[in-house]
Amino acid sequence: MRKSIRAFTSEIVPADVVQGVVLGASRAPSSKNTQPWKLLLVQGAALENLRADYLAAFNSGKGMSFEYVYSPDPLPEAYKKRAVDLGKAFLIHKGIGREDKEKRREHDSENYKFFGAKQVFFLALNKGEYNSGTFLDCGLFLQALITELHNRGLGCCPQYSVMAYPDLLRKHIPNTENQMFLLALPFGYPQADHIVNAFVTQRESLETFFRVVE
Ligand SMILES: Cc1cc2nc3c(=O)[nH]c(=O)nc-3n(C[C@H](O)[C@H](O)[C@H](O)COP(=O)(O)O)c2cc1C
Repeated sequence: MRKSIRAFTSEIVPADVVQGVVLGASRAPSSKNTQPWKLLLVQGAALENLRADYLAAFNSGKGMSFEYVYSPDPLPEAYKKRAVDLGKAFLIHKGIGREDKEKRREHDSENYKFFGAKQVFFLALNKGEYNSGTFLDCGLFLQALITELHNRGLGCCPQYSVMAYPDLLRKHIPNTENQMFLLALPFGYPQADHIVNAFVTQRESLETFFRVVE
């Protein structure tokens, strides 16, 4: 069963394995075979520099500036409940009390460290070359990427939160002025015994979203 992985070993995924993952994901379907996705792999010194700037930005309370809005605002009640339940369950799983502000901040800061991953994919689009359906194509590509990683025993966690500082992404990832970043995907070999990787999220029952018409 796939689940999000948020703790990785320090082992680097070899370039040929990464190539296989990306090639496999490139078979994702897209409307009229337009393949609008752009994928960047950031690793090594570039990633360490980005990570340091990200953490400094988060710790200093730098203003967040998202280039696209992910969810309806306000969230529909049912979605809000699921989001709140997720947050609560994750903190309980990690043994963090709701009142423990320091531990909660530490927990939040893990996002801005890209969960310590040694390699991070960034999914992007060319600015001005998208409409709502283009995001669906990119979502299909993202899921294909996640599945290709999973099938090789690798783990990953999609991250919208880190889209908060596009200026820092452009500072550390050259030639991206004309691209809009959609999502980060830290990936690597899962740390098998790490508590965060033992967290399993709930799902709604089929009746809540699936119906057969005949
Ligand atoms: C578009 C998208 C953005 C996400 N952003 C974050 C994020 O910023 N931080 C995080 O820890 N998890 C993030 N997640 C992971 C979700 O919380 C996770 O997929 C969901 O709770 C279901 O858990 P599972 O992936 O383990 O099945 C994101 C997932 C998606 C699809």
